[in-house]
Amino acid sequence: MIKYDFYTYTNLKKEQVSKYSSKIEKIKEIFQKKESMLDWVDQETTISEEEVEDILASSLQIKKKADVFLVIGIGGSYLGAYSFIKAFSNYFEKKDCEVLFAGYSLSSYYLNDLLNYLKDKDVVVNLISKSGGTLEPNLIFDRVLALLKEKYEDITDRVIITTDKESALMTYAKENQFKTYEVPRNIGGRYSVFTTVGLLPMAVFGIDIKEILRGIHDGKEDVAFAYEYAISRDLSYKQGKKVESFGVYEEKLLPFTEWLKQLFAETQGKQEKGILPISTLNTRDLHSLGQFYQDGEKILFETNIKIETTNTIDTFKYHLTLDEINAKAVDAVARAHKQGQVCSNIITLDKISYYNLARLAYFFMISAAVGGYLLDVNPFDQPGVEDYKKLLKESIGE
Ligand code: PA5
Repeated sequence: MIKYDFYTYTNLKKEQVSKYSSKIEKIKEIFQKKESMLDWVDQETTISEEEVEDILASSLQIKKKADVFLVIGIGGSYLGAYSFIKAFSNYFEKKDCEVLFAGYSLSSYYLNDLLNYLKDKDVVVNLISKSGGTLEPNLIFDRVLALLKEKYEDITDRVIITTDKESALMTYAKENQFKTYEVPRNIGGRYSVFTTVGLLPMAVFGIDIKEILRGIHDGKEDVAFAYEYAISRDLSYKQGKKVESFGVYEEKLLPFTEWLKQLFAETQGKQEKGILPISTLNTRDLHSLGQFYQDGEKILFETNIKIETTNTIDTFKYHLTLDEINAKAVDAVARAHKQGQVCSNIITLDKISYYNLARLAYFFMISAAVGGYLLDVNPFDQPGVEDYKKLLKESIGE
C-alpha cells in the first residue's frame, strides 16, 4: 500500500494544480501517442514474457554455478538493480551467490580489492551498457575478463552481455558466443530498471521479479498522483526552490535515492533549468544537514519516504515500536521544517516489499518525465553526460 500526501506539509492548493490542466492534457497526449523513448510506460514494451522466463531460468543456473554474480555498469545500467538489491539485503548476512557491482567508478583501490576477492570465487559476469561504448564499465570488464581467462579454460558460460542490439558490444558478444540480452531501443538508461538491465541482477539476487512486474502494472493506478507531484515540484521550482531533498528514514532505501538523483537530474537538468536532487538518511542527517534545512537559506523542498512497518521491535521506554517512533519522526520533522518554510511531500509505504518499491519507482519515473515536459526540455536525452564521456575519451587518446 502506498499513500501520497503533497498537501499536509506544503503550501500546495488544489486550485494551483487545476491551472495546469491544459499543459497536462498536452503531456497526456504525448504519453498516449507513445512518442519516442516512452516504451518503459507499458510493461509489454518494457519486457516480454519470454524474456522474463529466460531471466528466471538463467538466474537459477547462475546461482548454481557462481559464488559471485558481478554486474558491471554505470548510471542507469546499474543503479536500478543496485538500489532494489540493497533495499532487500540483510544488513549483515551474505548470500550463497552474492551480487556485486563494478564499473561505476575508476577506483583502483576498489578494482584491486575486487580482483583479489574474486580470485578464489566462482564468478559469472554481466556487462551492461546500452551504448556498449562507455569507458568505465569497458575498462573494468577488460580486467575482470583477464581474470576469468586465467581461472577458466572456457569462459563462454561465465559472461553475459546486456546491450543494444546493434551496438559494437553486441557484435563482440555474438562473436564470442556469450549469452546476450537486449536493452530496448526506446528506453533510456535511467528508465531501464524494469527491462533485462535491472531484472536479471534482481532475479539472481532472489527478488521475485513477477512481484516487481505486478507493482509496475498497478503503478498505472498512481499516474494521477504522479502528475500532481510533478505539478507540485514545478510550482516549488517557480517559487525559487531549486533543490529537492529525497529523504529516507531507513538506510536500505538510501541507494534508491541514488537512483532517484540520476532519474531527476538527467531528466530535468538541462538548458540551464532543473531542480537539483540531493538526498538524506534520517534521522542521521537531522544531526548535520537538518540544521540547514530548518534554519538555512530557503532554497529547498523535501520529498520523504515513510515506512509504516518493517519490524516490530519494542522500545521498552516508550511502549512504542521503533518503527512507530521512526514514523513519528517523519511527521515531526515535516512539521518543524514547515515552520522553517521548508515544505515536505510525504510518501508512505506500509512496508518495503518488491511490489511497493516497483510501484513507487514507476510513480517517480512518470513524475520525472512529466516534470521534464513541464520544463520544456527533452526528458530523455543527456547531452551533458555525453559531453563528459566524449571529453574523457579524447583526453586519454581514444
Ligand atoms: O540514463 C542514461 O542514459 C545514462 O546515465 C546511462 O545509463 C549511462 O551513461 C550509462 O550508459 P551505457 O548504458 O550506454 O553504458
